[in-house]
Amino acid sequence: MFSFFGKKDEENDAKKPLTNTLGIDLGTLNTVVAKPSGDKFDLYKIPSVVAVKKEDPSYVLAVGEEAKAMLGRTPEDIVAVRPLRKGVIESIAQAESLLVYAINQGSNESPESINRIVIGIPGDASEVEKKAVEDIGTKAGANYVLVISEGLSGAIGSGLPIAEASGTMVIDLGAGSSDIVVISLGGITDIETIRNGGDDVDRNIVEKVKEIFNVEIGIHEAEKAKIEVGMVHCKTEMDPIATTVIGKSMGTNKPEKIEIDSKLVADAAEPIILNLIAALSRVLERLSPELISGIYNKTIVVGGTSQLYGLKERIFEEVGIPVEISDDPLTVVAKGAAIVAAEPRALEPEVRLKAMK
Ligand SMILES: Nc1ncnc2c1ncn2[C@@H]1O[C@H](COP(=O)(O)OP(=O)(O)OP(=O)(O)O)[C@@H](O)[C@H]1O
Ligand SMILES: [Mg+2]
Repeated sequence: MFSFFGKKDEENDAKKPLTNTLGIDLGTLNTVVAKPSGDKFDLYKIPSVVAVKKEDPSYVLAVGEEAKAMLGRTPEDIVAVRPLRKGVIESIAQAESLLVYAINQGSNESPESINRIVIGIPGDASEVEKKAVEDIGTKAGANYVLVISEGLSGAIGSGLPIAEASGTMVIDLGAGSSDIVVISLGGITDIETIRNGGDDVDRNIVEKVKEIFNVEIGIHEAEKAKIEVGMVHCKTEMDPIATTVIGKSMGTNKPEKIEIDSKLVADAAEPIILNLIAALSRVLERLSPELISGIYNKTIVVGGTSQLYGLKERIFEEVGIPVEISDDPLTVVAKGAAIVAAEPRALEPEVRLKAMK
């Protein structure tokens, strides 16, 4: 299995990976649980949604798929909500229910039997946010909890050579937040987080459709269209494609069919792409020539939003970095966390420090 520490471990293989460990990517849209199983992982993807009582939002009635099915169609006294917004926990009680559910999914036994959990959170999370996630993990039944920057665990999950001095970079484009993380010698050298992601693209699509067609569409329809025809502007010719969506005419209130094409999605994504490019430029400004050379050779883009067509080309046009788009964008963060969780020395102080900035 990939080691968090590089070669040293091979000299010391008396320490075998721990069993009963889990890696969790606590995401705004999806929470992914990875459980090491031999050389592979058992993976569980849970929508980060909980259904709660309207009068008492800490009273959780359903979690995951069951709660997601209630979104927009719940009885009056129940609401389906997301415990995280832009990568940040909004409600501790709701996040705890989500995490307990995730741990249960990932463990065949009771949660008490899980030795160690490593949880990925945005790299710019405050000490308070970090502590909140650690406490939730402990309350949810884990003996030890380590919180790790999503970017670092994305790098580990992607198999990047994080222990080398030359440096690698991970760009994690999620639903609510996006991380740019430069890693060398096993730790985070530089980081930028923007609180923007695929959710913002969806919202902008809804707005653009209103403006252009005078039709209101649901946020889920917007996301579906984005996934089907999603593209970002770039100089390389890309054939535009289109998909049909049904919305509500703002003039007549009747259902109306409209066509969303990849150009509309690219326009909707543009503000988020510009924020990303600006953040990348800030990182480049700070990097030493040695690290610039390292990330030129090894930058990977992960997270669901990395799948927008043209992103690789656009990043190269703007900042001159040839990036690789992950072929496993939605689960690498959880896998990286699981690799760290199974690592016997993962709780040593030096590693705890490296796990976040
Ligand atoms: N094929 C696709 N093309 C474009 N976007 C996609 C595609 N598939 C998923 N997405 C988008 O990716 C986002 C979800 O990605 P991911 O699961 O990495 O986010 P997350 O980890 O839950 O969020 P965060 O990291 O911000 O907390 C959503 O906005 C979703 O619409
Ligand atoms: Mg994420």
